[in-house]
Amino acid sequence: MINKIGIVGGGNIGGVLVSEIVSRRLARNIGLVDIAPPEFAKGKCLDIAEATPVYGRDINLEGSKTYEVLEGADFVINTAGVPRKAKPDGSFPSREELLATNLKITDFVAAGIKKYAPNAFVISIANPLDAIVYRLFKKLRCKPNRIMGMAGVLDSSRYKYFVAEEANVSVENVEAVVLGGHGDTMVPIRSACRIYGLPVDQFVNKTALAKIEKRTRAAGGEVVGLLGSGSAFVSPAISALEMVEAIAFDKRKIVPVAAHLKGEYGVKGLFLGVPVILGKNGIEEIVKIKLTPDEKKALRVSINAVKKTCAAVDKVR
Ligand code: LAC
Repeated sequence: MINKIGIVGGGNIGGVLVSEIVSRRLARNIGLVDIAPPEFAKGKCLDIAEATPVYGRDINLEGSKTYEVLEGADFVINTAGVPRKAKPDGSFPSREELLATNLKITDFVAAGIKKYAPNAFVISIANPLDAIVYRLFKKLRCKPNRIMGMAGVLDSSRYKYFVAEEANVSVENVEAVVLGGHGDTMVPIRSACRIYGLPVDQFVNKTALAKIEKRTRAAGGEVVGLLGSGSAFVSPAISALEMVEAIAFDKRKIVPVAAHLKGEYGVKGLFLGVPVILGKNGIEEIVKIKLTPDEKKALRVSINAVKKTCAAVDKVR
């Protein structure tokens, strides 16, 4: 069992994370930080703590507006950031405005982690994903194997779900992976998509696959549109815990994560969604897979999009 998991941001994703960690008996202690008044994180923790007798779980939950509740955490999961929301005059903030706001928040998050849990594995879910994890790394200056962004597990899960639905088979029969940045340019890797170990196009025709891949790229937005306010939260939380479990139980599981690259896939110094082996040291190894020329081209486009975002990040002091 993990001794302590720290969570930054007690919104929808943070709430699912806490209740799911309790339900899975994954950690003995949880520290939740959220700056929302009056004492939002305390309230969230109390709500879930009061259900622990029903869950049948002994776990210590501590919520706070300040970062000391992260003290000694083995893992910190970052969900902090503001979503794109209409201003009082009805206009929307630009992505740059949003980026500037979220980077400010991220700098506070990094300072908190640095002070109270400098040795924790850091898994970041906050958006824009690629930019935030890059900024966290720059501020934390931690070992690159200990920090990663969660996007690929979720994007791949969405791809698998759509393929299973179309093929009318169990989701458990589908293997699929999505690489690249967590945006419209992400790359569903059709050549690695299998149903029962067989190439996917034996079950799903190419037109349907193209539709599925397009839907996968826009899947986060589809949920935002349907919910009306806020983004998906159950699937991102569960996906982050897949990564926590792979590390905590030293599974050496291959999963796609936003990892710091040192030349792999032609990328240096940036975070990109690639398959990695997750084990007791965090990212044990970057896995290089063979892509088709089209997939390589699409990945290049995605890499350029991530580069652009990170250049924008570097401009914000
Ligand atoms: C999504 C957000 C959580 O893809 O990144 O739904």
